[in-house]
Amino acid sequence: MENVDLPLTPDFEVWPVTAKTERFLVQDGALVVEWSDGARCAYHPLLLAENDPAGDVLHPLSRETVLSPLDFPEELKVVDAQISEDGGIEVFWSHGRRGSRYHPGWLRGIGWSGVVEPLIPAPILWRGRELTEPPTFDGSQALGDETVFLSWLRALRDYGVARLEGLPVRDGLLMETVERIGPVRESNFGRMYTLEIKDDPDSNAFTSSALLQHIDMPTRECPHGLQFLFCRENTTSGGEGIYTDACRIAEDLREEEPEHFRALCEICWTYNNRSKRSGYKASGPVVELGTSGEITAVRYNSWLRAPLVAALEDQDRAYRSYRAFARRAQDEAYQMKFAYRSGDLLAFDNRRVLHGRNGYDAQGGKRLIEGIYADRDDLHSAIRTLERHATGREKS
Ligand SMILES: [Fe+2]
Repeated sequence: MENVDLPLTPDFEVWPVTAKTERFLVQDGALVVEWSDGARCAYHPLLLAENDPAGDVLHPLSRETVLSPLDFPEELKVVDAQISEDGGIEVFWSHGRRGSRYHPGWLRGIGWSGVVEPLIPAPILWRGRELTEPPTFDGSQALGDETVFLSWLRALRDYGVARLEGLPVRDGLLMETVERIGPVRESNFGRMYTLEIKDDPDSNAFTSSALLQHIDMPTRECPHGLQFLFCRENTTSGGEGIYTDACRIAEDLREEEPEHFRALCEICWTYNNRSKRSGYKASGPVVELGTSGEITAVRYNSWLRAPLVAALEDQDRAYRSYRAFARRAQDEAYQMKFAYRSGDLLAFDNRRVLHGRNGYDAQGGKRLIEGIYADRDDLHSAIRTLERHATGREKS
């Protein structure tokens, strides 16, 4: 159990004390701690100083530091450390600075021991034959039980697509559900949009045509991270949703067609929306990589691409690689297909999972689907917050 008398930490996270201090050392002014779990971690004096939980460094309510990096002497050194009576770790300083006390769970948790946990777990990649349906949860249970709601959000984070089923069909339910996760991200289609057939459509989505695999909003500097679709009614025939894990496609290209993969990571396409009332444009590579080479997002939408202004050899390389991506995106082996049923709420990662649909017969019945966007950060924040609740260790 956590000792409530331990020093504050510069956050509202839970830091269980999982290891004891075996030995303290001072090395070039840094604190080195040998922990009982075998880790040996070194802490820079300025890291410790600016995270001192004392009230003149850390605001006790906001848990944010109130000082500038320049308020500490550049050559500040740790001179000694010991365990204080309450179990905190007490550090003594050069320059006549008063001592500081640290939470041992926090100190162990932030220590470098050769491995850094990623902020977000690695995605679970899939092809259509491996994941034939979205991970699905009972909608009423999810809305009534935080644990089930959290399971739905984790599935969305890990698989990039997850569904609630059997929800009551009523006004406001989609908005209320999304706002439990975080703020809605509006778009040029409004705060919420309805997928219906329009006489003057500003997107192919507002027709009954089939839609090829794509992400929405490739025309934005940062495309919307999440999309939520709530099917209120569907008695038409056809119109099945088609979903594809673009990270799986990209990883397969990295392995099997490395030249195309490199081109997809290097060549920037510009996307522009085709609206009489707005003029969004953005550019970026089809495959976005993080600093460790991991795939962070895709920007793929074949009908919103602007003409590529580039040298002929670059145009050739761009088209060959785009076609290589399209061949896999349109390959059924990668695709998950399913019907939208009344009461289904489908959530997906718009920057990872491509969506599309079969065409449908607009004369054969009614089809009413509401849509809302949000962002990935809101999902990740909601998961962390619910996880604190779930463990019953939320800190005030
Ligand atoms: Fe779309």
